Amino acid sequence: MHVSFNLAADLDAALVSAAAAAGLEEAAAFKPEVRTADPRHGDFQANGVLGYAKARQLNPRAVAEKAVAALPASLRENYDIAIAGPGFINFTLRPPALRAWLRPYDSAAHLRAGAAAAHAGQTWVVDYSSPNTAKQMHVGHLRSAVIGEAICRLLEFTGARVIRDNHLGDWGTQFGKLIYGYKRWADLAALAVEPIEELERLYKLGHQATPDGSPELDEARRELVKLQGGDPENVALWQKFSDVSLAAFRQIYDRLGIAFDCNLGESFYNDKVERVYRELTDLGIAEVSEGALVVFHPEHPRFKTQPFLMRKGDGASNYASTDLATALYRLEHFKADGIVIVTDFRQADHFEQLFLTVKKWFAAKSHRLPELHHVIFGAVTGEDGKALKTRSGDVIKLKALLDEAVDRAFAIVSEKNPELAESDRRAIAGVVGVGAVQYADLSQNRSSNYVFSWEKMLALDGNTAPYLLYAVARIHSIFRRAGVAPNDTLAQEAATDFETATEITLARKLTKFPDAIRLASDTLRPHYLSLYLFELASDYSSFNNADKVLVEDPAVRARRLMLCSRTLLMLETGLQLLGLRTLERM
Ligand code: ARG
Repeated sequence: MHVSFNLAADLDAALVSAAAAAGLEEAAAFKPEVRTADPRHGDFQANGVLGYAKARQLNPRAVAEKAVAALPASLRENYDIAIAGPGFINFTLRPPALRAWLRPYDSAAHLRAGAAAAHAGQTWVVDYSSPNTAKQMHVGHLRSAVIGEAICRLLEFTGARVIRDNHLGDWGTQFGKLIYGYKRWADLAALAVEPIEELERLYKLGHQATPDGSPELDEARRELVKLQGGDPENVALWQKFSDVSLAAFRQIYDRLGIAFDCNLGESFYNDKVERVYRELTDLGIAEVSEGALVVFHPEHPRFKTQPFLMRKGDGASNYASTDLATALYRLEHFKADGIVIVTDFRQADHFEQLFLTVKKWFAAKSHRLPELHHVIFGAVTGEDGKALKTRSGDVIKLKALLDEAVDRAFAIVSEKNPELAESDRRAIAGVVGVGAVQYADLSQNRSSNYVFSWEKMLALDGNTAPYLLYAVARIHSIFRRAGVAPNDTLAQEAATDFETATEITLARKLTKFPDAIRLASDTLRPHYLSLYLFELASDYSSFNNADKVLVEDPAVRARRLMLCSRTLLMLETGLQLLGLRTLERM
């Protein structure tokens, strides 16, 4: 029996062909829209008949019946098919088809081979984290890093070559004041131990010492002009600021499992903005307004009057001009098919204006236009809905936040498993604590504000990392007790069909993994995968409570071990795609 990886996509394609074979009017316009169904109705549901039939004043049930009748016999063998309500088509996998689907997906490589068609042959540049140098990363930087990494992994899993690009904010007027402060008050010992803290202190001093209109401010500006003009001393200082910042950021990235392919910050595009000014001016896309170079978008309700400011009156480049140069570089150098930029919602206008400008510019130059996505996320708030702060009202540093997560996880693990060696408890706490922070972010729709709650994210039940990691560890312990490895052939062959209600529910849930991956990667919203993993773990838990795995009957034991093995594979693969590490014991 042939079964393909993404059954929803498979049914979709089959219904398209069936519509044509049945001679439906304007069959090419029929979009079946097959999706994972509410399990009470079936495994997959086609919703597209209604809209199609309505637009043509046809009876939707009659349309659905014709399409279903024209489905190939081989497919009809695999499903119970029912037409429901006004014209939904529900497909429910029969037990032999369930077993046949599960059989080949026995490794992460096989799952990936199934999923890789979506973005095969494409190159995607993902611009995420992208903090400003000479400053600590704080809790606001968490989301871009965590969401961005999950998106990279989802794109890779679905076949793309992914370039992870850290677009550092490493250029701008603040470096004049920082150099001013550095030259007067740098504490080299402090710089060696806590470099970013020291740079923040020096910037603060530099800022305080250079009030508006003061001769000190003129001096700081001269430092900036020297830097921009390539003065060796100031360039070397700036380089040092970048180096120590990146080294400190790396410590955080390591903990989050992030490794960038490049760190092409704003400074990298310094010598690339002239071409942008020239091209956009020559093409008549940009115009000079009150001394500045700007782009208006007459077709847009707001941007027809709100300018996209790409060069200020003083001639300095800015965020807009470097981002334009960045888009061109990503096309020309990386041959990007897709570009994803992950920042908070407050930059929505900037990227909307940027993308509108890039579209006109590339069209005028006959460049291929990559898919452009601004992936936004909401603010991080405390449970009171206000911005998350320390008790003393300061922003929370990311490093301190991750440390606290691990400490809290250690306390919980120690309470639950006092008999474990301390080193084991520490190792577990490292995975659970950091995973809890990552997962809490990824389990919520990124567009919403992220309500930060230690209690919720560390809870052992609910849609949390500890719950999922525990489910993984629990399956590993079954295999330890069975004395077989999860990928042992003993756990790969079910000689009989799934029988009990809980076996069938779990097996059906497993077949939805591809559609969850598709949904999360198409929409660039990892929470769809999180939700799936949580539901899978819940179905597993019901199965585990109802059906003993290590029974005497070899046939029953084998098929239950197969369910355990597949659940483990999909949970581990899914959690890794979200950027989490997993454990064999907890
Ligand atoms: N440095 C910016 C910030 O901290 C984010 C940069 C995002 N990427 C970009 N190409 N503009 O907000």
